[in-house]
Amino acid sequence: MSWSLQKSPELSDLQFEQWNRLLEERTGIQVAPHQRGFLQMQLTARMRELGINHYGHYFNEVSAGLKGMVEWLVLVDRLLVKETRFFRHRDSLEAVRRLVQTRINNQQLQENFEAWSLGCATGEEPYSLAMVINDCFALAGLEPLFGITATDVSQPSLQRAREGVYSSRRLEPLTDNERRRYFRAVSQGADNWQVTSGIRERVCFSYGNVLQVAEMPLVPMDVIYCQNLLIYFRRWRRREILNELARRLKPGGMLVIGLGEVIDWVHPDLQRVADDRVQAYVRRR
Ligand SMILES: C[S@@+](CC[C@H](N)C(=O)[O-])C[C@H]1O[C@@H](n2cnc3c(N)ncnc32)[C@H](O)[C@@H]1O
Repeated sequence: MSWSLQKSPELSDLQFEQWNRLLEERTGIQVAPHQRGFLQMQLTARMRELGINHYGHYFNEVSAGLKGMVEWLVLVDRLLVKETRFFRHRDSLEAVRRLVQTRINNQQLQENFEAWSLGCATGEEPYSLAMVINDCFALAGLEPLFGITATDVSQPSLQRAREGVYSSRRLEPLTDNERRRYFRAVSQGADNWQVTSGIRERVCFSYGNVLQVAEMPLVPMDVIYCQNLLIYFRRWRRREILNELARRLKPGGMLVIGLGEVIDWVHPDLQRVADDRVQAYVRRR
């Protein structure tokens, strides 16, 4: 019987553990037992495309050498949750806005303002940050001297993010004013809108695995924004990553995570922002 006509083979407990371990080793993400069906479906779909009909053979393929790394990039993109939207958590972005405005009002902007969005998916998060920061510079009549680094492990998402083109449905969370100022129709009649070049050129998208944050260049940041990523990690790993991120903050810089994503973490150099609507920390001077 051809592979396409066969029923997908069940993942055994051992195979589930093996794949789960590989995913966690490489991304930090764990597949919960109730997501086993999803893992199985994604694996078999990909194996079908490649004409492989044993989980073990595919596992060996993905684990081996350079070819395996290329195949891994395809597979991992299918396994990760990439849900995102513009202005996903407005309160957090408003906290960033207040930080930038305070810096501008107190004339504390001596150098480029640097922000970093980790697990940036298809770009909605870093572009939202760029819009908020740009608003502050524009309001003060200043040149937009800021840059945003946006990193993720999904290459297809990064590619889409660089293009910065979205359907009008994706633009729904934005106010009319934000849509007008920061998007242009791609072509007459089409339902595609591109982020303006002024915003796109402020954001640099690149591959970056948060598990390797300790090996990343130590560029001091004014804002580090990491939401809806750590939630998938084990608690000890969340704390380790946050400690590394704390090292990368400039004095007075702000680390913003998702509300409730980490509950048992404190850092001697950081102070929690006194606002129940956000989970943000500022580095003491
Ligand atoms: C649920 S999305 C969240 C996107 C965005 N931060 C937001 O809150 O809307 C999680 C993103 O993290 C990325 N991701 C998963 N594991 C990662 C890792 N180890 N390093 C960097 N990015 C990762 C995924 O590819 C995905 O784009």
